[in-house]
Amino acid sequence: MANPDKPTKPVHILFVGAGAVGCFYASRLHHPSHNILTSLIARSNYSAIAKSGVSLQTHSFGDYTFQPHAVFPSISAATATDDPGSSPLAANPASAPQSLPPKDGWDYIIVTTKALPDRNDDAALIAPLVSAKSCIVLIQNGVGVEEPYRSRFPHNPIVSAVTVVSAEQIRNGVVRQNRWTRISLGPYGHGLSAPSSPSDSASTVNDDDDDKAVVQRGHACMDQLAQWWADHGGIRDAETHTELELQTIRWHKLCINAAFNPTAVLSGGRGNADQLTDPELREHITGIMHEIRHAAAQVLGKPFPDSLASPDRIIRSSERNAGAKPSMLLDWEAGRPMELEVILGNPVRIARRKGVDMPKLQSLYALLRSMQKVREERGEKGKL
Ligand SMILES: NC(=O)c1ccc[n+]([C@@H]2O[C@H](COP(=O)([O-])OP(=O)(O)OC[C@H]3O[C@@H](n4cnc5c(N)ncnc54)[C@H](OP(=O)(O)O)[C@@H]3O)[C@@H](O)[C@H]2O)c1
Repeated sequence: MANPDKPTKPVHILFVGAGAVGCFYASRLHHPSHNILTSLIARSNYSAIAKSGVSLQTHSFGDYTFQPHAVFPSISAATATDDPGSSPLAANPASAPQSLPPKDGWDYIIVTTKALPDRNDDAALIAPLVSAKSCIVLIQNGVGVEEPYRSRFPHNPIVSAVTVVSAEQIRNGVVRQNRWTRISLGPYGHGLSAPSSPSDSASTVNDDDDDKAVVQRGHACMDQLAQWWADHGGIRDAETHTELELQTIRWHKLCINAAFNPTAVLSGGRGNADQLTDPELREHITGIMHEIRHAAAQVLGKPFPDSLASPDRIIRSSERNAGAKPSMLLDWEAGRPMELEVILGNPVRIARRKGVDMPKLQSLYALLRSMQKVREERGEKGKL
C-alpha cells in the first residue's frame, strides 16, 4: 500500500543561502527515501560543501554529515533550463555531475540569506528560479521581509517563517547548532488586510479567486513542510499558524532582536546578559520592548497574546544567556552589513503608516545606519 506521507514523485527543495540556518534546516528536511530532495545554493562555502557536504555539530541531533541532493555555486547554476547544454554547469560537468536543476523547476525555494534589502533585491535575484509551481519560503528575522516577494510573485504561495535557534557556521561547510530548533510557519497572502486562512477567507469580502487560491496553496505548502520537518527531521516544534499569528510572532521576536542586537553594537560590544547588569541599559532595553508591544498592537489590531513572553520574562531568560553575542554584533565586528532595515527600519516605517511613532527604535536605526555608512565610506573593516 502506498505511504500517504511519501510523495509519489520527488519533491525538489532548494535553499538559497547555505549558512547556519539554511544548512541546519535543510539537513532536517532532506529525506531521499521519502522522495524529499534538498539542494543548496552556496557561495563562499561552495567548494567545501561540494567536496565534503555539510558537517553538523548539533546539540539536538548529535554530529552528522549532510550530503545535499545537489549543491550549486550560484543562482544561475540552479536555474532550470530546457536546454541542458546551456546550463552553466554543462561547461564543466565533471566538477559536479549531479548538480543539474530539476527540469520542471523547484517545488520549494527556501530563502535563508541574511535579510539585507538595502544591499540586495533578493526577490529579483531568485526570480530565475521561480516557476508557477514554486512555493517561496522565507526563514529570516525582522518584519516586512515578505513584501518584495509578494509584489514580484503575486501568483506564488509564500510561507513566512520565524526560527528560534542558535546556530553558526564555524568554518566553511561546518555548522554548529548550539540549542533550540523551533520554527514557526505561516502563509503570507497580501499583508494583514487579506484573509489569513481558508476559513477566514469565507467570511471576508474578497472576490479575487486567484488570491484565495494562492493563500490556500500557501497553507498546503506550510502544512506539508511542518509535517516533513517534524516526522522526518525530528523538529517537533515546527508549528503552523495563521497569517496574523505568524506576523504577531515576527513582531514579538523584535522584542529580542531590536532591543538587544542594536544595543550590543552601540554599547561597545556587550552581550545580552551583560547589558542587563547595567541599570541604564536595562531601562533602555525594557523601554524598547514596551515600545514594540504598543506599536505591534496598533499594527496587528490586537495586543500580544499572553502565550508570548512578557518583557519581564524575556529579561529573566536573557539574564541566563551569559556569553552569547547577538548576530548583529558579530556582523558589525566582522565588518559585514547588519540587518538594520528589517529589524529597525521596517518596523518604524510600518508603525508610522499606522500613525504610531517608535522613537526609541528610530534613534537606534538612525545611529546604526550612520555608523555603518561612515565606516564604509572610510573603507574601514572590523571592530570599532
Ligand atoms: N543563526 C541563527 O542562530 C539565527 C537564529 C534565528 C534567526 N536567524 C536569521 O536567519 C537568517 C539567516 O541567518 P544565518 O545565521 O543563517 O546567516 P549566515 O550564516 O550568514 O548565512 C547566510 C548565508 O547566505 C549566503 N548568501 C547570501 N546571499 C547569497 C546569494 N546571493 N547567493 C548565495 N548565497 C548567499 C551567505 O553566503 P556568504 O557566506 O558567501 O556571504 C551565507 O552563507 C537571518 O535573517 C538571521 O537573522 C539566524
